[in-house]
Amino acid sequence: MNPLNAACYADRAIWCRAPVVENLVIAESTFRVRIPCPELARRIIPGQFVMLRLAERSDPLLARPFALYDTYRDAGELAGIDVVYLVKGRFTTAMSRCGAGTEVEIWGPLGNGFSSRPVEHLIMVAGGIGQTPFLALGAEFLGRKRFGEPERERGTARRVTFCYGARRSSMLAGLDDFRNQGIDVRVATDDGSAGHHGFVTDLLRQLLEGEVSLAQARIACCGPEPMMAAVARIAKEAGVACELSLETPMACGIGVCFTCVARIRTDHAEGWDYKRTCVEGPVFDATQVLL
Ligand SMILES: Cc1cc2nc3c(=O)[nH]c(=O)nc-3n(C[C@H](O)[C@H](O)[C@H](O)COP(=O)(O)OP(=O)(O)OC[C@H]3O[C@@H](n4cnc5c(N)ncnc54)[C@H](O)[C@@H]3O)c2cc1C
Ligand code: FES
Repeated sequence: MNPLNAACYADRAIWCRAPVVENLVIAESTFRVRIPCPELARRIIPGQFVMLRLAERSDPLLARPFALYDTYRDAGELAGIDVVYLVKGRFTTAMSRCGAGTEVEIWGPLGNGFSSRPVEHLIMVAGGIGQTPFLALGAEFLGRKRFGEPERERGTARRVTFCYGARRSSMLAGLDDFRNQGIDVRVATDDGSAGHHGFVTDLLRQLLEGEVSLAQARIACCGPEPMMAAVARIAKEAGVACELSLETPMACGIGVCFTCVARIRTDHAEGWDYKRTCVEGPVFDATQVLL
C-alpha cells in the first residue's frame, strides 16, 4: 500500500532509454513518434500515460506527460508504443526536429486509465490533441486489441463512436487509424473545412438524441477544459455516464510534486479537495470533477 493512499501510484512503472524508430508528421503540427519499449508496452492500458524526455539534454529538464496512442509489434512480438503529439512548447518543438535514432528517456505506465466496464455503446469525444487516448480504447472495446499485463478484463461494446473536433481539417490526425479499427468516426471543425461546421459537442448532442437507450451508453472525453465541462453537462442532462481524462500540467508524473492537482468532489466540509491527476487520475468520473 502506498503511503498517501493514491489509487494508482507508479509502482508498476518502468524506466527505459531507447532510440526512436520513427518520428513522422501525421497532420498539421502533429507528429507520431514510435518508441521501442517492449516491457512498458506489455503493461500499459488505454488512458494511461508515459513521461517522455530527450536523453542527454537539459532543456527542457523535466519530462512531459503523453497518453498511450497505440502499441506496435515487430516480427509478431509486442515491441513498443506510439505517442502522438502536437507541437506546442519547448519539448514538443525539440522532439519534432528529431529523426530516427534519437535517444529518449521514457517511464510508465502511469495513472489509472479508462474503466473497462462493458457497455453497449462507447462514445469517445475529443477536442484537438485530446484525441490521443482513444484509438487504443476504441480498439480494445471492439475486441481488436488487448492491453495490460496481467491482461486486464477487456472492455466490450457493441458500438464505438468517436466524435472528434479540430480547428480545421489539416489538424485532424490519424482518422484512418480509427476507421481501420472499425470505429465510427464523426468529425467537426471550427471553420467547416471537414465534417460538421461547429463544435464537437453538437455531434454529441445529435448522437444522444438518436440513442436508443441512454442507460446503455457511456462517454469518454478528453480535450480543452471548457469543452470537457460542456460534455460533462450534456452527459449529466442526458443521464449518461461520463469519464473525463484531465490534461493538467505535470512535473513529476509519480505523485511527488503536486503540480498536477485538480478539484475533485469529496465528503470534506468544503465538498471538494485537490487530487493529483497523475496518481488519482488522469481519468475521473465527470460528476466528481469541478471544472
Ligand atoms: C495525462 C496527460 C496526457 C497527455 N497526452 C498528450 C498527448 O498524447 N499528446 C500531446 O500532444 N499532449 C499531451 N499532453 C499535454 C502535454 O503534456 C503538454 O502539452 C506538454 O506541456 C507539452 O510540452 P512542451 O514542452 O512542448 O510545452 P510547454 O513548454 O510545457 O508548454 C507550452 C504551453 O502550454 C501550456 N501547457 C503545458 N501543459 C499544459 C497542459 N497539460 N494543458 C494546457 N496547457 C498546458 C504551458 O503553460 C505553455 O503555455 C498530455 C498531458 C497529460 C497531463
Ligand atoms: S505531476 Fe507531480 S504529483 Fe502529479
